[in-house]
Amino acid sequence: MRTKCGSNGKIDSCDIRVIRADCLAWMKKQQDNSVDLVFGSPPYPEKGIRYQGRLENRKTEEWVEWMLELTKEAVRISSGMVLWVVNGSVRNHRYLPACEGLLWKWYEQGGWSERSCIWHKNPLPNRLHWFVNAWEFVLAFKKPNTRSRFYWKSIAHPPLKKGTQSFQQRDTYGRRGIRKTCQPKRLVRPRDVLKIPVGGGLLGHPLAHENEAPFPLKLALHFVKACSQPGETVLDPFAGSGTTLQACMETGRKGIGLDVRDSQVKLAKRRIADVEKN
Ligand SMILES: C[S@@+](CC[C@H](N)C(=O)[O-])C[C@H]1O[C@@H](n2cnc3c(N)ncnc32)[C@H](O)[C@@H]1O
Repeated sequence: MRTKCGSNGKIDSCDIRVIRADCLAWMKKQQDNSVDLVFGSPPYPEKGIRYQGRLENRKTEEWVEWMLELTKEAVRISSGMVLWVVNGSVRNHRYLPACEGLLWKWYEQGGWSERSCIWHKNPLPNRLHWFVNAWEFVLAFKKPNTRSRFYWKSIAHPPLKKGTQSFQQRDTYGRRGIRKTCQPKRLVRPRDVLKIPVGGGLLGHPLAHENEAPFPLKLALHFVKACSQPGETVLDPFAGSGTTLQACMETGRKGIGLDVRDSQVKLAKRRIADVEKN
């Protein structure tokens, strides 16, 4: 699907495309630096990954291997950042093994990254919402010497529960955090954490709820604006309901959304058509 969008009067037109494809296979066919930002939320290991359309539960290690290959491809085809929104935080506010494994392997193989960002699904009034974990990481990868273009305010260490002994965060060089600089008080400056309300239909579009794990439009808007310029191309390899694509439409970016499931491709198309209409 290709659609034109007249985004808030600044850009005359922009392209939005939704493609049904396995993202790894698709990315392998793309040229170096053919997009300007990759932003998306991969399926989590315990929820099952769709390899070529088949749903399979994979162990953490297998997820890490898959995401490593995918991240390499994404970094190759992106002239800017590659950002993965991953539910990385559990009750003790540490990276889940999957997140840490991915970052660690990435550093081991000489990859570069930025400090992860944290966003907080702002208090859910009645706790009946489907979100279980309130904190999520945005893992940030890039080529060496790529200007990160991070203007966000929320680059921060993950919060650390008081009394937790070891701190799993790695710095840009893959080193574990040094205790001295990782005291809980200094770790989390509340103003550094991006807070986005998500309960009560605040995801940004009613159709978002037809995906099993959407992120809010505000989150996509934040990173799309922080890490790309109007007119540039943003790729979401896991488009789902098309949240990133809506953010692209609203800010005058070209958007490419991939999803391996036909149902999600149709959903994203419906959402784009609706946004365009309204
Ligand atoms: C966490 S959801 C993304 C939700 C999306 N950010 C939104 O706001 O609606 C992950 C999506 O990735 C898709 N997916 C899973 N494996 C894939 C693959 N190998 N290639 C492309 N898409 C895949 C799933 O179908 C699912 O819709």
